[in-house]
Amino acid sequence: SSGTTDAYEIIQQTARLRILPGLETTAWTYGGSFPGPTLVSCSGRRTVVRHRNGLPHPTVVHLHGGHTPYGSDGYPTALILPQGGTASHADAMAGMPMSGAAGSRDEAVVERTYTYPMEQRAATLWYHDHRMGFTGPNVWHGLAGFHLVHDDEEEALHLPRGGRDIPLMIADRAFAADGSFRYPALDPAQHTPGVSDPYMDGVLGDVLLVNGAPWPVLETQRLRYRLRLLNASNARRYRLALDPPPPGGGGLVQIGGDGGLLERPLAHDALDIAPAERFDVIVDFSRYRPGTRVRLVNRLGSGSTADVMRFDVSTARPPADDSRIPERLSAIPAPRPERAAATRTFHFQRRAGSAGWTINGSPYEPGSPLATVQLGTTELWRFVTDFHHPVHLHLNHFQVIARNGRSPGPYDAGWKDTVDMHPAESVEIVTRFTDYPGRFLLHCHNLEHEDMAMMADFVAE
Ligand code: C2O
Ligand code: CU
Ligand code: CU
Repeated sequence: SSGTTDAYEIIQQTARLRILPGLETTAWTYGGSFPGPTLVSCSGRRTVVRHRNGLPHPTVVHLHGGHTPYGSDGYPTALILPQGGTASHADAMAGMPMSGAAGSRDEAVVERTYTYPMEQRAATLWYHDHRMGFTGPNVWHGLAGFHLVHDDEEEALHLPRGGRDIPLMIADRAFAADGSFRYPALDPAQHTPGVSDPYMDGVLGDVLLVNGAPWPVLETQRLRYRLRLLNASNARRYRLALDPPPPGGGGLVQIGGDGGLLERPLAHDALDIAPAERFDVIVDFSRYRPGTRVRLVNRLGSGSTADVMRFDVSTARPPADDSRIPERLSAIPAPRPERAAATRTFHFQRRAGSAGWTINGSPYEPGSPLATVQLGTTELWRFVTDFHHPVHLHLNHFQVIARNGRSPGPYDAGWKDTVDMHPAESVEIVTRFTDYPGRFLLHCHNLEHEDMAMMADFVAE
């Protein structure tokens, strides 16, 4: 019934956007804007999103961080064909760099309704394209948006809200002189390993966009703000910090991560954020003098990529701040690795002697799962990396229990769905498979690594 369902309709369409001064950028968008519209759901209330594809090529929609049944999770070959599309579009997929595309014909449609039960806690989710072999270019050209889930627990905390609860999508892009997005053609046949290598590093840009605008400035009152930081870059990692820091430091007070609220607030001077990760932070601008210009900087960048955005602290006298940061935010159950029904290891590695990437030595092969898990059981998974890889799990959030055999790192707290891994690391996570049988994905969220086959199916049954 309509009382228990939220419904959205999105038309995927080409749009001409004004991103750089005086230039137009043709983007592939959800609903004509980049980012796409911010969708909002209530925990426990089903949301249906009908997508129609008005773009000239097939797409797939994935709700990142959603606890979603198989049929709506955005399996990479479950295509939405363009409006008026025919089987010939599916035939065109046969030319894709990876195998398995032939099966897409069965699943292809011209519109698709995704059903999200939203049996999950409040969190900052996002939706983006997930087309097999083309996720990198599709997201780069604009197919990404926020999807926020609210619940009563979070509501009761009196965190900053309304105009002081701001999702910030950080994404780097490169542009050609005419303003168009510049995405290099990735052709394995043309590949020669080099210094700046999109196969190695993924595709990087030199313009940092926040919510689609280059280096924006936000005027803030001397009050607390909740900033929901999302790294929607294809491949770039950031080390975010406030410059100047507030007196006494600890200016980025983390209250949540990928899967919602932490147990307690965690003050950081800097935050490492890998592609697809979310950090929900409170910044208290009353700690700054009126008129201070506070830069959000990227300590891993240089030149144009060292600056993300700026907050100009108002000189006006603010109203009383009605928000709080409670000492206790939520309850997070302790992970139970001793209950694991299975322990599995996944090696994220460059493919020997070629440009691709693998998990446990295999490039992605739809329908060839690397693991089969039993619903109702807990598992311990160990990820081992050769280079930087942001490792992402569909279906479930997880808890990091160890990094390199020691305690989890400073950015591993709470429920996560993506874990930032450095070269030659091992991370152990624990997750419980509760419901939804089907085929789901484990992959690197460096989108070029993903498109170059660093992805695997697992089956839940
Ligand atoms: Cu955000 Cu499988 O992706
Ligand atoms: Cu995902
Ligand atoms: Cu990777």
